[in-house]
Amino acid sequence: ATTLGASAAATGRYFGTAVAANKLSDSTYVGILNREFNSVTAENEMKIDATEPQQNQFSFANADRIVNHAIAQGMKVRGHTLAWHSQQPGWMQSMEGTALRSAMLNHVTRVATYYRGKIDSWDVVNEAYADSGGGRRDSNLQRTGNDWIEAAFRAARAADPGAKLCYNDYNIDNWTWAKTQGVYTMVRDFKARGVPIDCVGLQSHFNSGSPYPSNYRTTLESFAALGVDVQITELDIEGSGQSQATTYANVVRDCLAVARCNGITVWGIRDTDSWRASGTPLLFDGSGNKKAAYTATLDALNAG
Ligand code: G3I
Repeated sequence: ATTLGASAAATGRYFGTAVAANKLSDSTYVGILNREFNSVTAENEMKIDATEPQQNQFSFANADRIVNHAIAQGMKVRGHTLAWHSQQPGWMQSMEGTALRSAMLNHVTRVATYYRGKIDSWDVVNEAYADSGGGRRDSNLQRTGNDWIEAAFRAARAADPGAKLCYNDYNIDNWTWAKTQGVYTMVRDFKARGVPIDCVGLQSHFNSGSPYPSNYRTTLESFAALGVDVQITELDIEGSGQSQATTYANVVRDCLAVARCNGITVWGIRDTDSWRASGTPLLFDGSGNKKAAYTATLDALNAG
């Protein structure tokens, strides 16, 4: 096929991108979005500070612009994210203990209920593991008790039984890293105890400090062997030219080699849309032209 989404669909997968609501009036941006992608993730609009800016006052207008666009175009939606230590609204940042636990669960329930039936996969919990050591990240949510993650997953399942429920994190790509093993151990435990988890999202922001690892396929296979889907959720790759293109192709080949790797999302469309202030980590240049990385990605999808 001739587009990323159609090529991924040929093997039963999706190919998505992060979308910013305020760019839906940019015709170049929307033209590429509608042509190439069959899944979207709101880059910021479904985060806690956006959807519940004041406690119990919910705000879905910007997220709805993205969801409605996606539905009108027949695209899947990845929900991002229900519970996270970052991008909490001020009222939540200053909470702790049982009040925070209740507020977090109320948020999960209210947002997942509002979008019930529209979300393919939810990032229920984002980035809960520490960067080193293999344990949990300290946060106000973690200090409510180690079971906060499973409580969030149970609340999400009750609110939207049809959505796949994912744990999403960065730096869990390299199988030998302690953080990867920490998340793996949690998912294994959740599956053993019947905590409702359906997928693991590997953000896969690759750069010099956290490069694409040669054991990436092992990591995808190992999570999948626990009985969950794996999704590459925020892919971007530092660099340019043929070396960047080769790495994109390797990532695609690794996903296609794993039956339960069912989707890839890049974290933006053009290099100028990237959260990385400098750099060229995406598939289209600032003018919307296809880069070598695009061609390598498309070819790898079609080889599957
Ligand atoms: O909307 C305001 C705007 O009104 C203001 O003028 C401007 C001034 O700085 O800030 C704007 O908000 C920024 C927002 O992006 C929209 O551009 C925030 O400051 C900025 O913090 C926010 O950054 C986002 C970041 O998450 C925050 O954590 C990035 O866009 C977004 O790409 C990034 O995405 C994260 C994933 O959610 C989780 N994984 C890592 C990934 C990359 O950091």
